[in-house]
Amino acid sequence: MHNPKRIMATGGAGFLGSHLCGRLLERGDSVICPDNYFTGSKDNVRQHIENPQFELLRHDVTFPLYVEVDEIYNLACPASPVHY
Ligand SMILES: NC(=O)c1ccc[n+]([C@@H]2O[C@H](COP(=O)([O-])OP(=O)(O)OC[C@H]3O[C@@H](n4cnc5c(N)ncnc54)[C@H](O)[C@@H]3O)[C@@H](O)[C@H]2O)c1
Repeated sequence: MHNPKRIMATGGAGFLGSHLCGRLLERGDSVICPDNYFTGSKDNVRQHIENPQFELLRHDVTFPLYVEVDEIYNLACPASPVHY
């Protein structure tokens, strides 16, 4: 039995992050997703927007963000050298 957690997935509106958010929500976790949409898009997480367990924030992770969570997955970095 999974013990639900509060999880922050930075870059959660990106390719890997959006799939991670989906899996975490599926298993019952709450997910906070800060993303500045530099290479990601709200469209990648549109299916979670109405989920009360999901919170999307427009935020650049190079600035401080104070939230209480149990775990952090940091995927907030462009994956392609073109965008570095
Ligand atoms: N895609 C792959 O095959 C792969 C393989 C190995 C490692 N990785 C690594 O995993 C991470 C995510 O990869 P991806 O393919 O999902 O990339 P992606 O570009 O689709 O996702 C990155 C997300 O981070 C966000 N982001 C970037 N800078 C940010 C900032 N300063 N503040 C907030 N959000 C920010 C982008 O808007 C985007 O939504 C990268 O670090 C990448 O190098 C990816």
